[in-house]
Amino acid sequence: MPSVPSVLIASELKDLLPPQPVPEARVRWIAAGEETPGGDYVGIVPLLSRRLGAGDLAALPQLKVIANCAVGIDNVDVAAALVRGIVVTNTPDVLTEATADLTWALILAVARRLKEGAQLIAEQRWHGWNPTELLGLELRDRTLGLLGAGRIGQAVGRRAFGFSMRVLYHARTPKPDFEASWAAQAVELDALLGESDVLSVHLPSSDQTRDLLGDDLLARLRPGAILINTARGDIIDQEALLRALRSGHLGGVGLDVYPREPEVHPELVAHPRVVVLPHIGSATWETRRAMAALAVRNLRAVLRGERALTPVR
Ligand code: GLV
Repeated sequence: MPSVPSVLIASELKDLLPPQPVPEARVRWIAAGEETPGGDYVGIVPLLSRRLGAGDLAALPQLKVIANCAVGIDNVDVAAALVRGIVVTNTPDVLTEATADLTWALILAVARRLKEGAQLIAEQRWHGWNPTELLGLELRDRTLGLLGAGRIGQAVGRRAFGFSMRVLYHARTPKPDFEASWAAQAVELDALLGESDVLSVHLPSSDQTRDLLGDDLLARLRPGAILINTARGDIIDQEALLRALRSGHLGGVGLDVYPREPEVHPELVAHPRVVVLPHIGSATWETRRAMAALAVRNLRAVLRGERALTPVR
């Protein structure tokens, strides 16, 4: 009798999946804090917090598929996986709108100084309506700059239309549909940095983008600009960011991602003009269910010998 294959699935996905998500396999649920076990597992559905390096893959000699439950795949050594013929998949599309909404929640929170307002009330320092209290940045007719204009960047750009903002973007490839439908304009990096009132980062983490926004590029942002990052924390050099905040060069910052999650620098937490969120870009029931379902469908497709729905390469 052929033996039943075994797969690993992040136990944090249990509430988002049916009780037997992979009926044709034995599922071992692994918690985020647990080391990746070695053995004869043929598939794994990890969270983005699980690093799967070459050593982890070596301990999984039968592995056929890594179905990451995230659109970002920087936690996986994709090159090492592909050399072994392991299929790597992610969860694009299903999280685009939720992440774009959250990006706008940060833009609005920083532009209109919500953190300072909430603190005023919490600390009982509010004395009533005051015409010059907590004046923020009016978004109408301002410029939104998108550093990266993939699915999420474009979804953020589309929403800017409702706020009557001009949209600039800088990306590796032109986006003619985005330009035609939403009046977005492709510009060089210098122009993006120099003209954006709000700069929103939408790049993947890679060797090319790590610490991309350091002292030099941050200094090229216009004084008082707002910087938003819902992509990956390591794209911004955190020490450079702190320097730009201390000098008063940046008007405000909204972050959902950090270089060494779950660490968040205390100075960012305490800064009145910095809004920090715990990596919740895709955190709606619909989206998280759709991500978990897509990851499992990818895993099952590969195990059946079919093409994955959303392979990364
Ligand atoms: C979230 O950050 C994701 O990559 O899905």
